[in-house]
Amino acid sequence: MDPDDDRDTLVDADGPEGVRLQKVLAAAGVGSRRHCEEMIGEGRVEVDGQIVRRFGAKVDPDRQIIKVDGRRIPSRQDLVYLALNKPTGVLTAMSDDRGRQTVADLLPSGGERLFHVGRLDYDTEGLMLLTNDGELAHRLAHPRYGVLKTYLADVTGSVPASLGKRLAAGVQLEDGMASADKFRIVDRSGSHALVEITLHEGRKHIVRRMLAEVGHPVSRLVRTQLGPVRLGRLAPGANRKLTTAEIGELYAAVGL
Ligand code: URA
Repeated sequence: MDPDDDRDTLVDADGPEGVRLQKVLAAAGVGSRRHCEEMIGEGRVEVDGQIVRRFGAKVDPDRQIIKVDGRRIPSRQDLVYLALNKPTGVLTAMSDDRGRQTVADLLPSGGERLFHVGRLDYDTEGLMLLTNDGELAHRLAHPRYGVLKTYLADVTGSVPASLGKRLAAGVQLEDGMASADKFRIVDRSGSHALVEITLHEGRKHIVRRMLAEVGHPVSRLVRTQLGPVRLGRLAPGANRKLTTAEIGELYAAVGL
């Protein structure tokens, strides 16, 4: 029998006591069933903090925390994790009573009810995460976990090399100080520059306000990274499923 073929034995192999560990791993996208069995044999798989080396071990994927190489896997199969490249002119909301286009309009219809992780301004583009994993969404957006977010900003004005130091030291805004975790000038030409800024907080309009405060108003803003997830070459308006590795790194970033 092909070890990657689920069709026959697993229905009876999975009883009320749970589902076989290698099946849960394979269904979560960790690898083929055979590869997952090898990982179990190599002691790379943990269930509720205990290394499990037995192939036949049964688990309850809804209740138990399963990790591969120390990274948690999304064991519940109803969980959805998407990256979307939000274009400008799209509202970060799942519906709008004023009829404006929302991020929900860019997702396949009739799918799971999803939450957007944090917000991007109507005029900001780039990486937006959507999931029905409420706990992960909540933690990723919570300032306590300080998940890093990186943006590319087109700014006006001649940007001095010292701007990074100033932003790292902190800028006084009307609702308190804000500082950049990282900053670099990507390109400079005349009275415009392209800069990359990384922050661990997500107050409203934070990047636009910080850069305006130091004399460089933003004319275009794109989020390129959220925690371990990169926008990459995802086309504007398109979405993709996160990889199992990305999901594991997101869990780790917020202590799940
Ligand atoms: N900072 C902003 O100013 N706008 C966004 O959409 C995100 C971060």
